[in-house]
Amino acid sequence: MSNNESIKPIGFFDSGVGGLSVMKKAIEYMPWEDYIYFGDSINAPYGTKTVDEVKELTFNAVEFLISKGVKAIVIACNTATSAAIEDLRAYYKNIPIIGIEPALKPAVELSNNGKIIIMATPMTLVEKKFKTLMKKYAQEAEIIPLPCAGLVELIESGITEGDELISFLSKKFIDIDKDTISAVVLGCTHYPFVKNAIAKVLGNKALLIDGSEGTAKELRRRLGKGGILGDKGRKGEITIYNSLQENKVIELSYKLLK
Ligand code: DGL
Repeated sequence: MSNNESIKPIGFFDSGVGGLSVMKKAIEYMPWEDYIYFGDSINAPYGTKTVDEVKELTFNAVEFLISKGVKAIVIACNTATSAAIEDLRAYYKNIPIIGIEPALKPAVELSNNGKIIIMATPMTLVEKKFKTLMKKYAQEAEIIPLPCAGLVELIESGITEGDELISFLSKKFIDIDKDTISAVVLGCTHYPFVKNAIAKVLGNKALLIDGSEGTAKELRRRLGKGGILGDKGRKGEITIYNSLQENKVIELSYKLLK
């Protein structure tokens, strides 16, 4: 049975096109829901900004989604989650806000003794949230944070394959013995879009794990708990907004969602 709240759309936010990797998973699990996506590509990347800057941009994005009448919000950005999730939840008490963090838990569970590399933005890796996560698993595996400044920019410009990307990634992994890596955590929502290139650079041996599944399941659980899951008998609609107001970025967004 639908109530007024349950027929509202779900809002997704990221610094750019990255959060679409999470929304894609949510659509797979809940195709009947309506989705509104806001990418802040004009301000991307967030990962090299200050925490206060990212907080302000994230609050603005959440205001935008609320103005569109959403029933829940997914901060589909590891960087914005680490900078702003606590403040957001304290401020917006009446709307479920779901964040994302590097999927270290499944990486530790699935990998067998080798090193676990966490690829993420510089901000995600220095913030308190990640430090707490690291501490929790430090005894169970050798965890190596790998800040990847520059990778978001490539993906934002539509580069998800090719020589430039392969050479960028090869340089990132140059100091790490690839044969000893058992898992790589994609701790930024942009990175699943270059999963194939990462696998190629690593010789297709390591497990590549991202947080989209956990986040989509948590979203479904929260909607269910709040009694605001949509009507399963229909097919939902998707609307994409971007602060960059250019056709190119909207076209790229729909392409990445396919
Ligand atoms: N997709 C964002 C994340 O998950 C990228 C942040 C950025 O813009 O640097 O961290």
